[in-house]
Amino acid sequence: MITVIKLHDLYFKPFISAKEIDIAVQKMADDIAADLGDEVPVFIGILNGSFMLVSDFVKKYPKACEVTFIKLASYEGVKSTEDIQRLIGLTQDLTDRTVVILEDIIDSGNTLEEVHRIFENENVKQLLIATLFYKPEAYSKDFKLHYIGKEISDKFIVGYGLDYDGLGRDLPDVYQLKTTQHMTNIVLFGPPGAGKGTQANFLKEKYDLIHISTGDVFRYNIKNKTALGMLAKSFIDKGELVPDQVTIDMLNKEVEKNADANGFIFDGFPRTNAQAKALDELMDNKDSQIDAMVALEVDDEVLVKRLLERGKTSGRPDDADESIIRNRIKEYYNKTAILKDYYSAQNKYFGADGVGSIEEITVRLSTVIDKL
Ligand code: IMP
Ligand code: MG
Repeated sequence: MITVIKLHDLYFKPFISAKEIDIAVQKMADDIAADLGDEVPVFIGILNGSFMLVSDFVKKYPKACEVTFIKLASYEGVKSTEDIQRLIGLTQDLTDRTVVILEDIIDSGNTLEEVHRIFENENVKQLLIATLFYKPEAYSKDFKLHYIGKEISDKFIVGYGLDYDGLGRDLPDVYQLKTTQHMTNIVLFGPPGAGKGTQANFLKEKYDLIHISTGDVFRYNIKNKTALGMLAKSFIDKGELVPDQVTIDMLNKEVEKNADANGFIFDGFPRTNAQAKALDELMDNKDSQIDAMVALEVDDEVLVKRLLERGKTSGRPDDADESIIRNRIKEYYNKTAILKDYYSAQNKYFGADGVGSIEEITVRLSTVIDKL
């Protein structure tokens, strides 16, 4: 399950697991030990970021070693700065020693340049650079990096010692800054007559969300003869079901059209487990997620009464016949039970009592959404 975290004002998504980090650290320790033979190296961690790496690294280092730290500071918020401050320098004589710098991350290389300056007059035997993470696209220096745990893209990360304005250092996994910031995406469900349409209209106004009704999306694409619309029509004309992928592609277009939206209300989709998974994937590709399935819960007898009432004025033939109505309600529960399970398993299912005035129900739904 994808768990996005929030630090201060920004959202981060899981990027590198504690397990992957462990493997990378182990490999660095093994490689360095193999290269240094019987020499007793001095490992120097660059504080603050490297404290977690150094602790894990030296536990994995199979031979004798010394450990110390220097403290430099070069970062402000999520941007590298050139102004590096030396806060705690070297406190021991390193003449003729093999020194291995342990860095959590090398970004622009400004910090590394300062490290080289510090060692210019120390007469060490050799200065080796080891970094757990390395951003090749951001690196602008020529200093050799002897050991690299993992190359990553030029995106801001937190966790495993790395912070965003003080927060996140304690996390055992590494998270990456999300490119699209937080959206609230809801799958709205309810049996026929539950008042889904009415509530969707209120919610989209209140939370500034885009309402995506699959029925509307289909009608729009077919009416405007889009490529996907024509494709969908070819199945409908043959009396076949439109394949999920076609529907997903249409929804994808809708989501892309509204890339900077606060979020979406999906209505009429998903209807099967496969569709729910496809929707999760779609949102994941957009660096986002489905936050909740919100279902309006209304007693069958109330629904039947409401729909018969509506049938008197709506002219919809399927609203006029009680046995057809009961069938539609039964169908709904047969179909959606699986989805309720799907979202419940992720703690994302929320039922809301759909009996009461429109305002009362809106308040109940808002209570759910406000907590997301
Ligand atoms: P450089 O001087 O630009 O190479 O950056 C090195 C220092 O910047 C690291 O020791 C970190 O403290 C910080 N830093 C660079 N990239 C990141 C990041 O993605 N997340 C958190 N801190 C970072
Ligand atoms: Mg650092």
